[in-house]
Amino acid sequence: MRARRRRRPALLLGATALFVGLIATIASSQTPSPSTAPSASGSAPAAVGEVAFDHTIHAGKYGIACLDCHAYADKAASAGIPSGRKCMGCHKFVAKESPAIQKLAARFAEGESLKWQRVFYLPDYIYFSHRMHVRADVACSECHGDVASMKTVTQDRPFTMGRCLSCHEQRNATRDCVGCHK
Ligand code: HEC
Ligand code: HEC
Ligand code: HEC
Ligand code: HEC
Ligand code: HEC
Repeated sequence: MRARRRRRPALLLGATALFVGLIATIASSQTPSPSTAPSASGSAPAAVGEVAFDHTIHAGKYGIACLDCHAYADKAASAGIPSGRKCMGCHKFVAKESPAIQKLAARFAEGESLKWQRVFYLPDYIYFSHRMHVRADVACSECHGDVASMKTVTQDRPFTMGRCLSCHEQRNATRDCVGCHK
């Protein structure tokens, strides 16, 4: 369990956007409060973001595809978090008068991205890529639960080695130590 507690430094989801070269300024000085750290039992408390993003509206009620926003999940190691531009593509028109959307629009106009608290993560010594899993038709929900019905994304149970291995056994994927360990 030692590995679980060895937290990554405050990794804001905005960092993913670096990958697409969208943001250069990430407030890496911002540390999550201890209460947002996943417990050893793995149930992470609520995600913290500047605007309360709700998957039940977007992925649930309006059925926007996961890959529409997490556009790198089938292409790269990281799934990616949508940029402000993506949000504003709809919110230039939708719910304009809502205070949350006004905040979103203001941030976008300032050229700043919203910050989100990361929920899922693995220790740095693990090699993991979304691409190969999504391409092998492993559903998002097998690893993340039913996100479309979560107002706030939470991790239901930890990614222990046993959990990776039991699926790998069933699906005949790698069980070599060096397959997952860097
Ligand atoms: C309209 C855009 C949008 C859609 C559609 C969407 N998401 Fe998200 N997702 C986000 C944003 C923004 C965040 C960061 C804020 C948060 O954690 O709620 C996020 C966060 C997440 C996280 C937490 C990542 C982490 O570790 O912090 C997971 C897992 C996730 N989404 C999975 C899904 C799945 C699965 C679907 C489809 C059922 C989906 N999302 C649909 C925008 C979207
Ligand atoms: C494909 C279109 C689409 C995209 C992309 C999209 N949204 Fe939305 N969003 C909606 C719709 C539709 C609603 C529901 C509006 C309503 O009920 O009036 C909504 C509602 C919201 C609300 C609640 C507004 C309120 O107070 O009623 C927030 C906050 C929000 N979205 C944030 C975001 C963020 C942040 C992003 C980018 C990560 C995003 N949305 C991307 C379509 C979209
Ligand atoms: C085999 C399990 C698995 C599947 C399938 C999976 N994920 Fe993930 N996801 C993870 C793990 C593990 C992490 C944490 C990775 C890390 O720390 O490097 C993660 C992290 C994320 C994140 C956080 C930020 C990022 O860019 O990686 C998002 C968003 C996300 N997943 C969305 C999705 C979506 C959407 C799908 C389906 C298209 C999906 N995931 C499928 C296991 C999975
Ligand atoms: C729900 C099922 C499932 C879970 C959970 C899962 N995987 Fe996988 N994984 C697969 C499948 C299926 C493949 C095979 C993909 C292929 O060969 O096309 C795979 C392939 C891989 C590969 C590539 C192996 C190679 O041959 O190059 C790595 C690395 C990997 N997974 C790491 C992980 C890690 C680390 C975890 C836990 C955090 C994990 N996986 C959890 C189903 C899963
Ligand atoms: C399918 C992916 C996968 C394979 C294959 C795998 N591991 Fe792991 N291993 C993990 C993950 C994920 C963790 C982190 C678990 C956690 O944080 O709870 C881990 C953690 C560990 C740890 C704990 C490290 C620490 O610092 O606490 C040891 C030791 C370990 N693995 C050894 C092995 C050995 C030996 C093998 C080969 C027999 C192996 N692993 C194969 C995914 C894998």
